[in-house]
Amino acid sequence: MKKFSNRSIVFVFLMVIATMTLQAQKAPQDMNRFIDNLMKKMTLEEKIGQLNLPVSGEITTGQAKSSDVAQKIRTGQVGGLFNLKGVEKIKDVQKLAVKESRLGIPLLFGMDVVHGYETVFPIPLGLACTWNMAAIQQSARIAATEASADGISWTFSPMVDISRDARWGRASEGSGEDPFLGGEIAKAMVKGYQGNSMANKNEIMACVKHFALYGAAEAGRDYNTVDMSRNRMYNEYLLPYKAAIEAGAGSVMVSFNEINGVPATANKWLLTELLRNQWGFNGFVVSDFTGISEMVNHGIGDLQTVSARALNAGTDMDMVSDGFIGTIKKSIQEGKVSEETVNTACRRILEAKYKLGLFDDPYKYCDVKRPAKEIYTPEHRAIARKIAAESFVLLKNEKNTLPLRKQGTIAVVGPLANTRSNMPGTWSVAARLDKSASLVEGLQEVLGKKANVVYAKGSNLMEDAAYEERATTFGRSLNRDNRTSKELLDEALKVSANADVIIAALGESSEMSGESSSRSNLDMPDVQRTLLKELLKTGKPVVLVLFTGRPVVLTWENEHVPAILNVWFGGSEAAYAISDVLFGDANPSGKLTMTFPQNVGQLPLYYSHKNTGRPLSEGHWFEKFRSNYLDVSNDPLYPFGYGLSYTTFKYSNVSLSSATMNSNGELTASVTVTNTGNREGSEVVQLYLRDLVGSITRPVKELKGFNKITLKAGESKEVSFKITPELLKFYNEDLQFVCEPGDFDVMIGGNSRDVETAHFTLNP
Ligand code: BGC
Repeated sequence: MKKFSNRSIVFVFLMVIATMTLQAQKAPQDMNRFIDNLMKKMTLEEKIGQLNLPVSGEITTGQAKSSDVAQKIRTGQVGGLFNLKGVEKIKDVQKLAVKESRLGIPLLFGMDVVHGYETVFPIPLGLACTWNMAAIQQSARIAATEASADGISWTFSPMVDISRDARWGRASEGSGEDPFLGGEIAKAMVKGYQGNSMANKNEIMACVKHFALYGAAEAGRDYNTVDMSRNRMYNEYLLPYKAAIEAGAGSVMVSFNEINGVPATANKWLLTELLRNQWGFNGFVVSDFTGISEMVNHGIGDLQTVSARALNAGTDMDMVSDGFIGTIKKSIQEGKVSEETVNTACRRILEAKYKLGLFDDPYKYCDVKRPAKEIYTPEHRAIARKIAAESFVLLKNEKNTLPLRKQGTIAVVGPLANTRSNMPGTWSVAARLDKSASLVEGLQEVLGKKANVVYAKGSNLMEDAAYEERATTFGRSLNRDNRTSKELLDEALKVSANADVIIAALGESSEMSGESSSRSNLDMPDVQRTLLKELLKTGKPVVLVLFTGRPVVLTWENEHVPAILNVWFGGSEAAYAISDVLFGDANPSGKLTMTFPQNVGQLPLYYSHKNTGRPLSEGHWFEKFRSNYLDVSNDPLYPFGYGLSYTTFKYSNVSLSSATMNSNGELTASVTVTNTGNREGSEVVQLYLRDLVGSITRPVKELKGFNKITLKAGESKEVSFKITPELLKFYNEDLQFVCEPGDFDVMIGGNSRDVETAHFTLNP
């Protein structure tokens, strides 16, 4: 009897497994069958309607039922909406689509959830400086949980554009200059947003953007022309997009720039040949905001022409241009677009809705009880605080000025010292700007009665009021002070007179980086520099807490200020995280992922440059007829990978398991890292490789591995990296992905400049 029941349990178990396997296998067919059936019922107009992503319009002001957009939803002319906030509102609009349109096809609700939702994490450039993939994935997971609780099914993130020109304001939205690191971060973000399958209620669809090469805009000017060789694209700029696709990103957003003379939005090579045929992407492609109609300005045709070109090239969804909805039918009638092309695009969008589970339950993301339980929770905020502290980069710390002691009088001075709205940083669309503590408030809360915090604004953001206005949009005003610069300065000096230490909270406002925020001068703005000089003249210890969304020029500051802590824009919990680091409750471990130049003239500047035929000889910064400048060395102010800690680390014994490697073999590179200071700290151990002779020129070094470790005072650890032929591969002149026999340098260190080197040979 017992035997029999055991057997039956096994039998039932096997049946369950078999059914599950069958279901899993059947799933794509189920989806195809479902969509085939649905599309049979759809009119051409309804199919084109799915390709339309209009602005939410009056719907955002709560007049959904009577608005123009509402009418379009009822008549099946809308596939999705974006940047509409609030689950009740979204539920209402979804009802409109499901109950009042002919076929009841649910809408996608998108949003720029770029670095958190209401719990805001550091801006992506800061997040990257943690070099902590688990933390980055967790930040995206929390963002997805909060956004999905509020009705959002689709985020316009991750932004993975490589940027090597700090003038470009959108550098803040990406991971910085490096393809390898960018790829790792892209994967972590996609996994964080989409979870395993997008099937769960707290999993949303990612949209990797801006495809492609957007970060290489000429002169760092936003929306500007890009011109790049295939060699550089394949070996550098394309890698993070590819990594995101391989991680399963459900959608792709096209960039505004042109590529090889054709705007990306209408670039068939990019969207069909590369993305779909070479990379196997099977999700859908959305244009960027008015990306289609902007091609009229690019000068390649009227709205009908550019819309047809976009669709024929592989752009499936039109964000805001009204180009598809307004002209595609006509283009079909005139034989410029085939109905098959519309069917293909429509199918891709319906598939995304199917994969998100919206056909099973259109209200999957509309549980009105979730927001109170899942958004801006103490748990999420505690994690955001920890991650923010990990993103800060200690740039200078002369005579251990930091950490500070929790005692005495602390003067906090500067235009960024007491602002709440400027803490979360650019592209924090869902943030409650009034909720984040300002730095002064955070310090007061953390210090309690232990120390006395005094405050003065000290200066406006800059002397030029009109510039300040341009730099403080979207509700992020710094409440410009009408007093003269002299009056503001005098007040600051008076307030600081009795202080033991001065914290100068200076730099950029949050909207000085982000979209349409390019700058040609990256120095500390005029009045802020004057304030800093005067504060230094007091002879008291001054700590520069630098707010910035990009690398800025700190040459003067580096020379004169004893301690500089770069806090980027740390998100909703930034003030507490800054306090944690300033007082040593957290030990800084952030490392730069974008080079800081000595001056703007050096830009674009990045560590993985080519050697040229006329490199400088060792130990020289200028030589006639060499590749250099008359007035400044080629060195950065702070190199890629750089960042200090309150402890120190020593690298020794860089060694390789073998001096040669076979083309099907591998070897191990090891280093011993020792914490030589007197407190625990974390260090990002970085591996760089150089291919010394190639069939095409190769960079002087490329990041190929990293490992973040934590060491107690005095502790040593051996860190190893596996080097495989795969890691040595690159795209050759014929764009074949190959590794070539020959000599390689292996460099290991705590930043891209200070490395220990070993060598090996790859055998033929
Ligand atoms: C930006 C995108 C963003 C979109 C929707 C555009 O202006 O370039 O990054 O996702 O707007 O808000």
